Amino acid sequence: MSWQDDYASRLFVFGTPLRLLVRGEGPWVWDETGKRYLDLLGGIAVNVLGHAHPAVVAAVEKQVRTLGHISNFFTSPPQLELAGRLLELARAPEGSRVFLVNSGTEANEAAIKMALRHRPRGRMVALEDSFHGRTLGSLSLTAKAAYREPFEPLHPVTFVPPGDVEALAAALDDDVAAVFVEVIQGEAGVRPLDPGYVRAARDLTRASGALLVVDEVQTGAGRTGEWLAHPSTGITPDIVTMAKGLGGGFPIGAVIGYGPTTGLLLPGQHGTTFGGNPIASAVALAVIGEVLPLLDHVAALGEWWRAELAAVPGVVAVRGRGLLIGVELDRPSGPVQQALLDAGFITNNVNPTTLRLAPPLILTRDQAESFTQALAGTLASTEGENPHD
Ligand SMILES: Cc1ncc(COP(=O)(O)O)c(C=O)c1O
Repeated sequence: MSWQDDYASRLFVFGTPLRLLVRGEGPWVWDETGKRYLDLLGGIAVNVLGHAHPAVVAAVEKQVRTLGHISNFFTSPPQLELAGRLLELARAPEGSRVFLVNSGTEANEAAIKMALRHRPRGRMVALEDSFHGRTLGSLSLTAKAAYREPFEPLHPVTFVPPGDVEALAAALDDDVAAVFVEVIQGEAGVRPLDPGYVRAARDLTRASGALLVVDEVQTGAGRTGEWLAHPSTGITPDIVTMAKGLGGGFPIGAVIGYGPTTGLLLPGQHGTTFGGNPIASAVALAVIGEVLPLLDHVAALGEWWRAELAAVPGVVAVRGRGLLIGVELDRPSGPVQQALLDAGFITNNVNPTTLRLAPPLILTRDQAESFTQALAGTLASTEGENPHD
């Protein structure tokens, strides 16, 4: 029996995995044959410190020896400290508070419940091509028909085209409880929103009385060269959701309620067994400590790398910020992603013509350059054609 057969007979939901990975260190992972790969996807924007980072290993080990799990009838020093750090880093105003969860979809579920307490039975507004998760509430906000349709009816959501202020204004009436946005739409192929549009969304939601929820599940935790991606647009949201990179590979997410929104969920109205447990909180604190000094590196490396990638023949556009990068090709991205994998580079064909890079933030310029060379070689040896023709 191959590992592929074992997988197919023992696990369900996902398709056949690309490789059986057995070990990781820094930005590298190894498969069961001993072949090494440069991990430029980082567990989909999760492994901000790469694999087996000593600070993560030490935080897990220390905390599991000290106090591993308690119920939410109790709290712990790492949980208190983490909540304080997240508020500080979010520059959240007085009265803001945090709810700790395990994943991105769970963070968005909590935000949806807050919105429904804000405007009972309210509709939501989200952007076309958005991705907010797979559980039923978050799935309502996720635009892709193939993900949604088997599970309809979902919560009523109006999808509007990103960047179209008039369409957003037209969608906002007294029934809308919240507008959800990603400032860079990761799953859509790394598509940044115009900062002016984000500001307009803030103004329009204030005027209509809807909450503005910024989903920073993919863009947060230093990914864009800033701790969070939205402050550079100049707005203050009502709710921010985080997950992915926050735990550097350990499952944790966070809902940051700005000011009075935290009064929307009262004890008993929501909960989680594992959310914010001492180990997860201790790891997130270690991640924060390591990521903050890397932010300038992330911004500078990302800027340099995007320019390099844009100069590769066969690349038609490069989008993104920091180390969340979408490389738009003049040909289907699937075969290119496969060829790169065979050449020892993990990327993701996030849409039919785009490769997504979301590598560990510890990536070096030489490592990035080795990928640029590999991409150039791969594109030179495969047929280019405009898939839109
Ligand atoms: C913007 C965004 N929101 C939410 C999610 C869902 O997060 P999770 O897979 O941790 O539930 C994702 C995952 O890709 C995401 O990119």
